[in-house]
Amino acid sequence: MLIAGNWKMNTDLPGGLALARALAAGVQEAGEEAFADVDLAVCPPYVHLAGIADVLADVPVAVGAQNVHAEEEGAYTGEISAAMLTSAGCTHVIVGHSERREAFGETDADVRAKIVQARSHGLVPILCVGETIEQRRAGNAAAVVRRQLDGALDGVDVDTADDLIVAYEPIWAIGTGETATPEQAQEMHALIRRDLTDRFGDPAADVEILYGGSMKRHNAAGLLRQPDVTGGLVGGASLTADHFLDIARHAAAQVPA
Ligand code: PGA
Repeated sequence: MLIAGNWKMNTDLPGGLALARALAAGVQEAGEEAFADVDLAVCPPYVHLAGIADVLADVPVAVGAQNVHAEEEGAYTGEISAAMLTSAGCTHVIVGHSERREAFGETDADVRAKIVQARSHGLVPILCVGETIEQRRAGNAAAVVRRQLDGALDGVDVDTADDLIVAYEPIWAIGTGETATPEQAQEMHALIRRDLTDRFGDPAADVEILYGGSMKRHNAAGLLRQPDVTGGLVGGASLTADHFLDIARHAAAQVPA
């Protein structure tokens, strides 16, 4: 189980540090046992990363970025490299979020290049896939997700389950308050699991497949109870430490004792 927060372009630096401190305090207060079987991560804006990695250094909350450039370094004004991320304390990076695909024109080929680059620096990519409402209504959701997986993972090696995380994020559920039903999520997660198994064999059985799209503390339990939903990529609700940790508690409750 993994609960990861995607802060998107929210919080200024003092606000982001305060949120990270609140998370650290919440994890410490809950005690070691509370989240022992759940991995936690936050993906703040770039500017916050190093400071937040410091704040979270002594608690089991990993730090990830929301994007990375596919090139090693050079004349790419405004871009951030994988080496910059690792040197700032990141272990994870979100790639191919639908907001980047839609608002910044990222293609499957771009996403694939970012995954390769992230992996070559030891960053675990959190690959986002998901369909629009029109694609779902037309009965094409499965085909869209398969195509996104194919475009992003073609030629990529996954030797252990820790090499990759996938997040299924139906676009119609992101930031809308409308959540996929647990059944809709499970159906797509099972499809993703089968696709990964065909591609990578045994390690795919333990690759985390997160659900994202208006996951909140009131609906997280039903989603996380599904066998192939092994965590969440949480946007809005990750901006409040208590809400985020409540979702993590629901994840912990699903892990067999
Ligand atoms: P949301 O965002 O939880 O606010 O819907 C999820 C995401 O986009 O990762």
